[in-house]
Amino acid sequence: MASQIRLEDLTYYPRLMILSSIAWFFAGGAAGLAMVLAHLTGALRIADYNMLLTFHGVVMPFGGLFQLMMGLSLLRVGFCYGKSVKGPLVKASYFTLNVGLLLILAAIFVFGVRTSYTLMFPLPASGALKGLWSLEGLTIFVWGIILVLAVIITLYPASLARLMFGGKTQEAFVLERFVGTLNPAGMAGMLPYIFIIPPLGTAIAIGAVTIGLALLGAIPLSSAGWVLHPLNFNYPFWIWAHNLMEAMGIMAIGTVYWLIPRYTAVLRSSEVVEPRLYSEKLGIFAIVFYSTAAVIAFPHHLFTMPTSQPAGLSYTGQIASWLTGFGAAFSVFNVLATAYAFGLRLTPASLAAMLGFAVYIVDGFLAMQLGTIGWAYRLHGTYAVTAHLMTILLAVSLIWIGALYHSYRLLFGTEVNKKLAYIHIILTAVAALGLFYFMAFMGGAGTPRRAYPLPIPSDTGVLGLVGFGVLLAAAQAIFLAQLFKSLSKPHHYISDTV
Ligand code: HEM
Repeated sequence: MASQIRLEDLTYYPRLMILSSIAWFFAGGAAGLAMVLAHLTGALRIADYNMLLTFHGVVMPFGGLFQLMMGLSLLRVGFCYGKSVKGPLVKASYFTLNVGLLLILAAIFVFGVRTSYTLMFPLPASGALKGLWSLEGLTIFVWGIILVLAVIITLYPASLARLMFGGKTQEAFVLERFVGTLNPAGMAGMLPYIFIIPPLGTAIAIGAVTIGLALLGAIPLSSAGWVLHPLNFNYPFWIWAHNLMEAMGIMAIGTVYWLIPRYTAVLRSSEVVEPRLYSEKLGIFAIVFYSTAAVIAFPHHLFTMPTSQPAGLSYTGQIASWLTGFGAAFSVFNVLATAYAFGLRLTPASLAAMLGFAVYIVDGFLAMQLGTIGWAYRLHGTYAVTAHLMTILLAVSLIWIGALYHSYRLLFGTEVNKKLAYIHIILTAVAALGLFYFMAFMGGAGTPRRAYPLPIPSDTGVLGLVGFGVLLAAAQAIFLAQLFKSLSKPHHYISDTV
């Protein structure tokens, strides 16, 4: 019976998601590099720069990071709970996301839509009315966003929940046992996504579908008027967007909780030891504490909208933002105590998880400044904000790179070349920190984000971005070389049975 269960049932869709995410990362990364080079050379027209900015801003977080997380988290749930990772929900998650991204790609490069990825009201509509881009292009863009939203808010969390809570465990698929029902904190880190994102995303999803239907002419434009009121748009948007990033962050911390105990000297030296954090209870507490604080921290995105944001809400946002820092501090203690008490072994997975977590914490200090009302007025709209958002995404990407190295053999059928993996990971971490400090420095000096050409007298900051951008690209090329080598080997990973 066991021989009829194909390993492919576990790995096929996760692998497809991971490979697609890598393709989006490379396309979006090339756009990022072209943008910084354009700042040096002035080679791009303003409209082209804004198209690249919009493309880069959509595909790096959603095509790249979100999809990488989707593939690796579904794989982990599959091999921990003993379930095959296929079926309509998983397939629909993969295809809907990528079709949505292709629509967005077409809207940007065929129809010239260049709103940036946050769709700040009323830019998309006024751009179309002023003839900067066409209404058809905007309609395609909005429907692309709706498809991506459908995956983020319903299909992916439903796939995750179905694998965790539904169906029967097939023992042959249980490749890694875990302790307890949710064990530990590593698995619990997935729950905030499942339970927080669908309810908090519903309002913006209803708004987006209403706008989409009005653009198609299926309902009168006047019936979409309520969504287009700045207050009704900005609050649902930020409640969703903020919590999505937090849920992805918590999922990544859960991944650190899951990876680190698996690479300890104590675990290796004894058959009876189970992979545990220094304190599993503190791990669960940190996740609950962090998630609760994060949910109410969203008003920090709207500090600078004094006409619509009551002061009380701003202060709630500030206090909650600082409380997320406490949640992160509990995790720092727990992860370091695990490494110290049980002896952390150096492997590509543990190194990437630790360095990604370190970059996450470094970025947290800038996040605290942006989450403080007075500082936000000073830094809002500058490169300091880009520094924060790109660094948290890069840190989380690095943590998932750890998970990717952990499952590399399962996915691609060959052992990891450790030397190449260490170079990839270390260069990625150095580049992430380099980009972070240069962008933060530019933001502190008042350089405006989303501006081209930049109104600054010196190229020093931009030169730093080009240098660390090239380093990041080189690091990923090293990874790609290793991946191509594995993929070009006979496809024994496809036919394996368990
Ligand atoms: C995992 C890696 C990365 C992710 C997830 C990411 C994500 C993003 C996002 C979401 C934006 C905001 C777009 C917007 O405001 O509409 C952005 C802006 C930007 N990114 Fe990246 N990025 C990454 C790496 C890079 C790299 C390697 C470079 C080039 C060195 C780069 C250069 C830029 C530039 C120049 C901007 C525009 C800054 C501004 O005007 O606000 N990014 N990035």
